[in-house]
Amino acid sequence: VEHGRPGRRVGVAVVGLGGAVATTAAAGVELLRQGLATDDGLPLAGGDLRALAAAAGLVDYPDLVFAGWDLADDDLAKAAEVHAVLEPWQRDAVAPALSAVTPWPGVGDPAFCRNIDGEHRMGAGGHRAAVEAIAADLERFRDQGDLDNVVVVNLASTERRVDPALPVYATPEAFAAGLDRDDPDIGPAMLYAYAAITAGAPYANFTPSVSVDVPALLDLAAATGVPVAGKDGKTGQTLLKTVLAPALRARALRVEGWFSTNILGNRDGHALDDPASLAAKLDTKAALLDDLLGYHVEDHLVTINYYRPRGDAKEAWDNIDLVGFLGQRMQLKVNFLCRDSILAAPLVLEIARVLDAADVRGQGGIAAQLGVFFKAPLAAPGTGAEHALHVQERRLRDWLVAAAATRP
Ligand SMILES: NC(=O)c1ccc[n+]([C@@H]2O[C@H](COP(=O)([O-])OP(=O)(O)OC[C@H]3O[C@@H](n4cnc5c(N)ncnc54)[C@H](O)[C@@H]3O)[C@@H](O)[C@H]2O)c1
Repeated sequence: VEHGRPGRRVGVAVVGLGGAVATTAAAGVELLRQGLATDDGLPLAGGDLRALAAAAGLVDYPDLVFAGWDLADDDLAKAAEVHAVLEPWQRDAVAPALSAVTPWPGVGDPAFCRNIDGEHRMGAGGHRAAVEAIAADLERFRDQGDLDNVVVVNLASTERRVDPALPVYATPEAFAAGLDRDDPDIGPAMLYAYAAITAGAPYANFTPSVSVDVPALLDLAAATGVPVAGKDGKTGQTLLKTVLAPALRARALRVEGWFSTNILGNRDGHALDDPASLAAKLDTKAALLDDLLGYHVEDHLVTINYYRPRGDAKEAWDNIDLVGFLGQRMQLKVNFLCRDSILAAPLVLEIARVLDAADVRGQGGIAAQLGVFFKAPLAAPGTGAEHALHVQERRLRDWLVAAAATRP
């Protein structure tokens, strides 16, 4: 079945290529290529959306080519073994292809991510040298891979929280000056984002880290016509929150409190075991409820605990206390026993396909049609982001319809 324009090949340069989500995405594409995977879990492969995506010229899943950076130098077959997300037969089937992919050395900074500090790094040098090296990697990838386009997706460990209102993030000029003086408030996620935008590569931030979501980089993306998306993939608990909250609002069931808790034991969980990284994650998970409901829920609690026995099999619980007609109280309990990377990897593929198609159409700046895939969708300064899943879904569908009508 056609998923897009035949023959078009798009590179996905991943920050954090050796991670659980990235290796699952790369393995998934390889299994699709071999005809060993179904379309389950791929949002744009089912129902009428498949035809719409093809009509809009989205690149076929098997024509996505993975490469990227990591602070660990394991090849992807080794990484897949460590993460243990795939079934053994799946690992065997993809091992020949994945063992040929080794991450490029990354740009790391322990000040931004304390619990993850690999040795596989670019040579010393300041911010400017890092940006140039990242851009050179992108150019080499595109040329040697004979690719029609390259998009960059951030799937690296969550960095510490920064104050997005700092002056260095305010304008492209201030940011450039910050690069020149190796400003310590510019972290790795921002260096990758800046390098992607200046190299003309569409960019998505699937993590809660602050990267393209500062005015300097959003302005730069709009001015240079580069599509950007983010941030923090909406996969499990938050996905359900953005379905349930609009339903409760529609019935005027008042949410008195919402208690959300999670346990996970993968490397992501280990990174989040550092309070600074955890704070960044809790920000993107907690911010949206008030917005969805239209009032402030004082007792909205979100916790995440690193609990090794679970590995990638995350468990999320929600307890919602409701007040209905005549003041009667009710409770709703949700228990999602999910697979973190299995939920996330297909979204990465869709994000890459849509960003490429937006780029082909010259649609620079915030790719708002991708909001459906993110916990904290990018929005123009001064405007609120849409969080309700049904509205976001409609937006993506409308964009695909328009894209199909304007296929270059
Ligand atoms: N359902 C999900 O899995 C989900 C949902 C939303 C967001 N996320 C986010 O996606 C990211 C990836 O998740 P994961 O489970 O694959 O995590 P992971 O820990 O398995 O992978 C992260 C990888 O990034 C690498 N890395 C860290 N800093 C780097 C740097 N500066 N440059 C290059 N590589 C770097 C690490 O070595 C590691 O291999 C996390 O930030 C996570 O919060 C995941």
